[in-house]
Amino acid sequence: MTDGEFVGKTVFITGAASGIGYAQAAAFLEHGASVFGFDLNEEGLRRLQEDCPERMVFRLGSVGSPDDVKQAVELAIATFGRIDILCNTAGILDGFAKTLETDEALWDRIMDTNVKGMYLTTNAVLPHMLRQGAGVLVNMASIAGLVGGGGGAAYTASKHAVIGYTKQVDLDYCREGIRANAIAPGAIETPMNAADFAGAGEMAAQVAEETPAGRWAQPDEVAKLTLYLAGRAADYIHGAVIPIDGGWIAK
Ligand code: NAI
Repeated sequence: MTDGEFVGKTVFITGAASGIGYAQAAAFLEHGASVFGFDLNEEGLRRLQEDCPERMVFRLGSVGSPDDVKQAVELAIATFGRIDILCNTAGILDGFAKTLETDEALWDRIMDTNVKGMYLTTNAVLPHMLRQGAGVLVNMASIAGLVGGGGGAAYTASKHAVIGYTKQVDLDYCREGIRANAIAPGAIETPMNAADFAGAGEMAAQVAEETPAGRWAQPDEVAKLTLYLAGRAADYIHGAVIPIDGGWIAK
């Protein structure tokens, strides 16, 4: 990443109130970008805004709601005039439910957030990027998008869909200045995995043991990869899936 390359850029981040999305927002703000955060949850967004009131704006809403997404993107454009980078980070886990334990409501909730939410947000932001002739998408997949065992049936299906969607969006628009890639994190210590750290943290210890690197990663490690993928140095990286998993899928 070149010094100052994000100054004057606007980044739209879904799921910015917590975990990886929060770390992405903080990292882009630290590097001089303006950030528009979109999430169901206000607390983390407020904290980011308090730290950087002049360059951080947010709106509450769901990525699964076309109206919420449309209004958020309109506000981002009205506020900053453009969106240079879209981080589709919002996502939810399915409690590792097998398919026979997955009722339709759970299936729909996971798909609406992880897949449809990404499609709705991308379709709201992309026309602005195409008008600019430039834009970068960083979509949050998972090791569950590449192998089984990283989630339940719905989550694993949703993250495989995220990877397919990312490749197709990149192929369809790469000649118009758009670049889309996906990140496939392994075990990242965020509120999503709070249950693993509950009590004596036996589950978290087991996950670390099963990870070749022998540890969990922190969300800022994923944020640093995001900045790399969003930056000029990654200009020839298209439709790729970059694991950040401590060696999990190499096993
Ligand atoms: P998190 O639970 O800490 O943060 C997720 C954020 O998304 C929350 O602020 C939540 O309010 C927001 N969100 C959920 N549903 C939403 C909706 N319908 N509309 C708007 N915002 C919504 O989780 P974490 O760990 O930061 O996860 C971020 C992304 O990274 C997710 O897509 C997740 O699947 C992915 N991921 C996480 C891994 C991990 O180990 N933490 C591993 C692999 C992928």
